[in-house]
Amino acid sequence: MRRKIVAGNWKMNLDYQQGISLFSEIINMVKDEVRGDQHVVVCSPFIHLHAISQLAKGHPRVSTGAQNCYAEAAGAYTGEISAAQVTSTGATYVILGHSERRIYFGEDGYLLSKKVDLALKSGLSPIFCVGETLEERESDQYFDVIRQQLEAGVFHLSNEAFKNIILAYEPVWAIGTGLTASPQQAQEVHAFIRNEIAAHYNQEVADSTSVLYGGSCNPGNAPDLFSQADIDGGLIGGASLKSRDFVEIVKVYNA
Ligand code: PGA
Repeated sequence: MRRKIVAGNWKMNLDYQQGISLFSEIINMVKDEVRGDQHVVVCSPFIHLHAISQLAKGHPRVSTGAQNCYAEAAGAYTGEISAAQVTSTGATYVILGHSERRIYFGEDGYLLSKKVDLALKSGLSPIFCVGETLEERESDQYFDVIRQQLEAGVFHLSNEAFKNIILAYEPVWAIGTGLTASPQQAQEVHAFIRNEIAAHYNQEVADSTSVLYGGSCNPGNAPDLFSQADIDGGLIGGASLKSRDFVEIVKVYNA
């Protein structure tokens, strides 16, 4: 069975102290309140990663991750952070292909495929994001767009390597907007993604890949979204900045 995962994406929020406080609150609440086999991942800015990874030690259901890493292994790339450097903090995940990276930083499929390769080589599990814009949805191009994003970013991987990939469907029109895909809209795309994986690899790989939903997910809408057959958890932006909201979303999977 594939894993249920609730991942927080803090984006470019929280100074160092605020991040440590928020993570400490999350760890305590998870320890006291979460009952089930769901896994929690917190993707912080780089500045928090080492400290929160230390705090997460001894909490097997909580992991940490970065929100990006660079497409080269090392060298003269002022201001960039490599996958191996992320690993050295104790983090085990990295978000790649987030629409904010694609749109504001011009990251394309080829660049992302290099980042995916280096992340895997460094032992990180990529949380690879796909999703269409409003225009692409309204012109019925969304399946094509998502297929292309998968083909360019992750479908070059071998069966074995692909098993370390987590996917996130994040419709761009739902990110940070308060608009959420309906459970039916999200399920339709998640089923499509799983079919694409089955067609490209095989049914066993498709059935074992976790596909998360992201885009204005909150404690109110998470239960309906997470009950869909092909939705295996969430990638949570705004609501992950409030410990109570984030942990309530994690608790949707409480046994
Ligand atoms: P949001 O962000 O929950 O604030 O919409 C989700 C994301 O961008 O991962």
